Amino acid sequence: MDEYRRANLANWNERVAGHTATDGYESYRRLVEVPGHLTDTVVFDAERIGDVRGQSLLHSQCHIGTDTMSWANLGAKVTGLDFSPQAIAAARELATRMGVEATFVETDVFDAPNEIPGTFDLVYTSVGAICWMDDISRWAQVMAGFVRPGGRFYIRDSHPVAMALDDQRSDDALVLRYRYFATGEPQSFDEAESYLGSATLANTRIYDWPHSLGSVVTALIKAGLVIDRLDEHQHLDWQLLGSMERDGERYVLPPTQRDVAPLQFSIHAHKPQETD
Ligand SMILES: C[S@@+](CC[C@H](N)C(=O)[O-])C[C@H]1O[C@@H](n2cnc3c(N)ncnc32)[C@H](O)[C@@H]1O
Repeated sequence: MDEYRRANLANWNERVAGHTATDGYESYRRLVEVPGHLTDTVVFDAERIGDVRGQSLLHSQCHIGTDTMSWANLGAKVTGLDFSPQAIAAARELATRMGVEATFVETDVFDAPNEIPGTFDLVYTSVGAICWMDDISRWAQVMAGFVRPGGRFYIRDSHPVAMALDDQRSDDALVLRYRYFATGEPQSFDEAESYLGSATLANTRIYDWPHSLGSVVTALIKAGLVIDRLDEHQHLDWQLLGSMERDGERYVLPPTQRDVAPLQFSIHAHKPQETD
């Protein structure tokens, strides 16, 4: 494991305790307390993806399993993967407490083809996934490899334009600060807090990789998927900038800036049948 992944793994492992605590992911508790509960992330995506009842679903970078178990509540046969042993343990505990069947596999995305057999009706990944991938072509090959012929792939993630915005400003100006295009080199950040919960982190250093929208789409096409739809969205599930306003469970830019920059993208794709 390289130094970047090692640092990211230590950081993600450490975030789990805060995310499963009472001031962490509310859905981690609600999924146990309220039968059939769904995270807001899955409510949004399920409206677009449609019926998943009886379908096999692979959730890549499932974290503590809240979205994975929401898909299970919608009737999918779920498998979640994540490289964090702490996250996978928390996800397994969630499934056990809910009494709902699910498989969780501790593996790096790039090692997953050796750890998870077979293919799936739907491969799903969302909200903070690809920035941790240093090689978008390899990531797309792994994702496509898990889609059965005729099966579907769906991603919703932060828009690379949003990720390039300056999040360190004290005013409300929208200014580009970080890379939009990948150079192969990571960007490093030090953050003592996670995006949820009040826990303080000791493993503050993280490395991430920007991926332009074109590079994501082209990587998926080259990996053998057919893109059915590409959407850009005006909200995030978390607060990127201090100026962002809460809109229910989502965050949006102030009204005068809402049409200026996209905050997320989503892609629907499928793998052609052998005969297509
Ligand atoms: C922002 S979280 C995804 C969160 C998810 N959308 C949620 O809210 O539950 C990113 C996840 O990616 C995982 N991750 C990061 N790099 C990874 C890698 N190389 N292989 C597998 N998982 C990875 C982290 O452990 C973390 O759980």
